[in-house]
Amino acid sequence: MSVSFHDRDIISITDFSREEILSLCAAGRRMWEREKTGQRNSLRDALKHRTLSYMFYEPSTRTRTSFNTGMRELGGRYDGFSGTEGTSVMKNETVRDTVTMMCANHNDVIVMRHPLDGSLQWAADVANIPVINGGDGKNEHPTQALLDVLTIYSLREERLDGLRVGFGGDLSHGRTVRSLSLALSHFDDITIRWAAEDFLGMPEELEELLASRGVKVAREKTVRDVMRQVDFYYMTRPQLERMPGVRQKDIVAMMKQYRIDREKIEGFDVRVLHPLPVNSEIAEIDYRVYFTPAQAFFAQAEFGIFLRKALLHEMLGHEGYRHYNGRLPMELAVGNNRLPRRIHGLKQSGMFIDKIHDGAVIDHLAQGTLRAVSYALDLENRGYSCTTATITEKPNPFIKTNLRELPERDLKHVALLSPEPTINYVKEGRIVEKFVYLLCGNANCISRTINEDVPPRFYSDVGTIRCRYCRRPYAVAHRKVTPEERAAYIASLPARIEPVAYPD
Ligand code: CP
Repeated sequence: MSVSFHDRDIISITDFSREEILSLCAAGRRMWEREKTGQRNSLRDALKHRTLSYMFYEPSTRTRTSFNTGMRELGGRYDGFSGTEGTSVMKNETVRDTVTMMCANHNDVIVMRHPLDGSLQWAADVANIPVINGGDGKNEHPTQALLDVLTIYSLREERLDGLRVGFGGDLSHGRTVRSLSLALSHFDDITIRWAAEDFLGMPEELEELLASRGVKVAREKTVRDVMRQVDFYYMTRPQLERMPGVRQKDIVAMMKQYRIDREKIEGFDVRVLHPLPVNSEIAEIDYRVYFTPAQAFFAQAEFGIFLRKALLHEMLGHEGYRHYNGRLPMELAVGNNRLPRRIHGLKQSGMFIDKIHDGAVIDHLAQGTLRAVSYALDLENRGYSCTTATITEKPNPFIKTNLRELPERDLKHVALLSPEPTINYVKEGRIVEKFVYLLCGNANCISRTINEDVPPRFYSDVGTIRCRYCRRPYAVAHRKVTPEERAAYIASLPARIEPVAYPD
């Protein structure tokens, strides 16, 4: 099977096949060989006239600069922002508009990092040039996983099958453990052992996913129990920035027995990896480990340059460029998150206290949310009627308004406060449309933000509903949705994440 990365978005490691990972490892090794034989600049014309745009909403040293180095050594250029200070993000510009500007600025590829899960899929949907995920929230960091795999592949004589790897530090809030373990799941006979505090431990959902992909995952009591049984120990930094309300000193206490120091590696033939940076306060790797043969994380960081250089070469090393035409695809405006419900009879049933001729009924609101929802919609101040009601024999309250169609932001506001509202549109006294509004349940998913106007979209992963952006599974919980309605909705969803077609 031929492998091509031409103009491809790099969003999730799960989009890569085993062959593609191995092909990039081989390409990364070729870059390594050029460097080590004095040919660093032998491809200096490969990306002449190409420009990379880096958009880093979060701090980075390695990811941003290694992409820049790769671009420079291939003869291309780079431009962008590192931190939002000094950009129009400070004036509330959306990701959609900022990404669009980078396309309008005649760039050829975007590398972006953003704190929200799914933000990179959204950026890829918006952009008419390829987008590379440099880290989205606690979701994914696919090029980190690829460089980690390249490091192991290189240090293990180009073999990945049969690997025994340990994970430590923070397996819960970081994205590198997720991406690397999913990358390894393409290979045979992989064993992962980990040791960490419960709070920082491997998420059950990830453990189950890995098990379903044939990876053996075992929790051990101590770091030395792990060290004893692995070839590589992948240590990670506690991601304090993703633990609101948690103090660093609590993490220091939690990490006490899980830090890597010389005593924990003594007697074992193990290589210690770390995506870096190390937090110097927590010191999850003691500085004395830096000077031992086990230390492999600085070589790992340089493999990041070889991997990213190879990836850019594969993606952009061809003639031609994408013209920008100032238009956006309609798909960016409309979601597929409305689960249609059957309309019983043609007329409004007995669900209304006083019937309406034209308008909307927001039904099945969660108990206790009525005030918050009506406050968020602020219908009366916008010139519409707003009747709120709870009927004793029905557990869930509803809102009735003469606003005929709720704008997407209103629907999202309602769903954020009261998941899965039923929306009924009424015309000339008859219900003409009835649907349940679904919204991804991942609190950090970009599709839940109001101002970004991301249209919630799902796909059906062999019958499991998943968010298009953060890819988390979604389970319909609405007690009134029938199995037939649910099945019909799933059947209407795409089977995978298809790229958005850009208008000519
Ligand atoms: N490993 C990694 O992503 O490093 P940076 O945060 O410095 O980019």
